[in-house]
Amino acid sequence: MGVREIQVADTTLVIHELEDVCDSVTGRVLTGSWLWNSSLVLSEWIATQGRLTFDFQDKTVLELGAGAGLPGLTAALLGASRVVLTDIETLLPGLINNVEVNGLGDRVEVRQLVWGSDESSSEFDGFDFDLVLMSDVFFDMEEMAALAKTLKKVRRKETVVWAASEVRPWTGECLNVLVSEGFGVVELPSQLGGSSGSGNGNSFMEEDSLDMFAVFLLLPPNEDSHVAAICN
Ligand SMILES: C[S@@+](CC[C@H](N)C(=O)[O-])C[C@H]1O[C@@H](n2cnc3c(N)ncnc32)[C@H](O)[C@@H]1O
Repeated sequence: MGVREIQVADTTLVIHELEDVCDSVTGRVLTGSWLWNSSLVLSEWIATQGRLTFDFQDKTVLELGAGAGLPGLTAALLGASRVVLTDIETLLPGLINNVEVNGLGDRVEVRQLVWGSDESSSEFDGFDFDLVLMSDVFFDMEEMAALAKTLKKVRRKETVVWAASEVRPWTGECLNVLVSEGFGVVELPSQLGGSSGSGNGNSFMEEDSLDMFAVFLLLPPNEDSHVAAICN
């Protein structure tokens, strides 16, 4: 943990990770205090492959469970006009700091959004997001129904939803909860860290470890979709 410098396109994003943000009840360090490798994967993916199919210029972007906020900050660098980074309240000061140190305060704001909370998501009633980003949020099966509820609330018909995840033994079960809520889950092709990509120079992106990550497109409920088999 500390200060990380992440190459995104032709720019360096500075990300401060937190060392002392703990849950006041359990005393455990909150998982959003530091950058997870999925956020590096999603940042690189959107800066290379994602931008080929989605023009970030003047788009509005929401990041759920943002942690340190790397994917959302990447979207701002790529031209998004408004980015909202969200997480639980305790993590918001760290997110605000990461927005400020990168000089992106004119385009990026930070808000609390607790999955499943009507009160929390009602603050987003007037928002109209073109893209929702999530990295490493398919983590706790108990949270997936709440995440699905929030996704249904904040997206509109045309909103694109991209998520990167480390593929763990229980990732498929987490995704199945979203499928049971009506979402389609499609694994997107990714060529991360390869010679064709503009890798962000992070050492974990060796070919072996990249097999452990996947990028997904989440299709909205009630649209024809196919669920990709991901956890063989
Ligand atoms: C594994 S961390 C990933 C953090 C960050 N996206 C990354 O990839 O570096 C999971 C994130 O989801 C957030 N999260 C978990 N449950 C949540 C909930 N019910 N409402 C809002 N955020 C939640 C956590 O606070 C944390 O930031």
